[in-house]
Amino acid sequence: MSKPDATAETTQFGYQDVPVDEKADHVRGVFDSVATRYDLMNDLMSAGLHRLWKRHTVDQAAAKAGDTVLDLAGGTGDLAIKFARIVGSKGHVVLADINAAMLEQGRRRLVDAGIAGNVTIAQVDAENLPFEDATFDRITIAFGLRNVTDKDAALRSMHRVLKPGGKVLILEFSPGCDSQTRVRFLLVQCVADPRQGHCQR
Ligand SMILES: C[S@@+](CC[C@H](N)C(=O)[O-])C[C@H]1O[C@@H](n2cnc3c(N)ncnc32)[C@H](O)[C@@H]1O
Repeated sequence: MSKPDATAETTQFGYQDVPVDEKADHVRGVFDSVATRYDLMNDLMSAGLHRLWKRHTVDQAAAKAGDTVLDLAGGTGDLAIKFARIVGSKGHVVLADINAAMLEQGRRRLVDAGIAGNVTIAQVDAENLPFEDATFDRITIAFGLRNVTDKDAALRSMHRVLKPGGKVLILEFSPGCDSQTRVRFLLVQCVADPRQGHCQR
């Protein structure tokens, strides 16, 4: 993962380079403007394939009833809704995102899906998660890590809040895909070693 170092002046935002300290504003602007159309756009742009990959991600997560799950950069809540059904009333899901407009869409969808009581919505920055150490059994981040400026900080933060033996699942577009062929995806899984505390792929 590339961390923008102290001397780097630019970082990637989509297919362009932008000043490191401006990326978060660009990302916010994009998701503020698309929030209400995001789900429709996702279906159109991936020909619906994002649904299959999200289903696959949830299956691979193998969360159980009673688990605590963080869906980071969770946007409009596709994964959070699925996990809420799996963990049940004894478990808990945090739908977390930096963008209030995306989370508002997520809140509406949770209501529409009849989910209440086991999901918390949190506006957070992935680079600096405001949760206790070793809180979550599972952490997912789907199509979100690419938007984070300091990816190493986000990974460290996820590792800190993951329970020993917990799992992080990162769903992303495959490297090398251009805007026409973005229907290939990559799922990276990492399990925190219960004894040593570090992650193994
Ligand atoms: C492409 S959307 C993915 C939403 C959802 N996970 C999905 O797959 O449908 C990317 C999301 O990442 C969020 N995001 C970007 N930077 C973030 C950060 N630093 N911390 C938390 N969320 C962030 C955006 O606000 C946006 O909702």
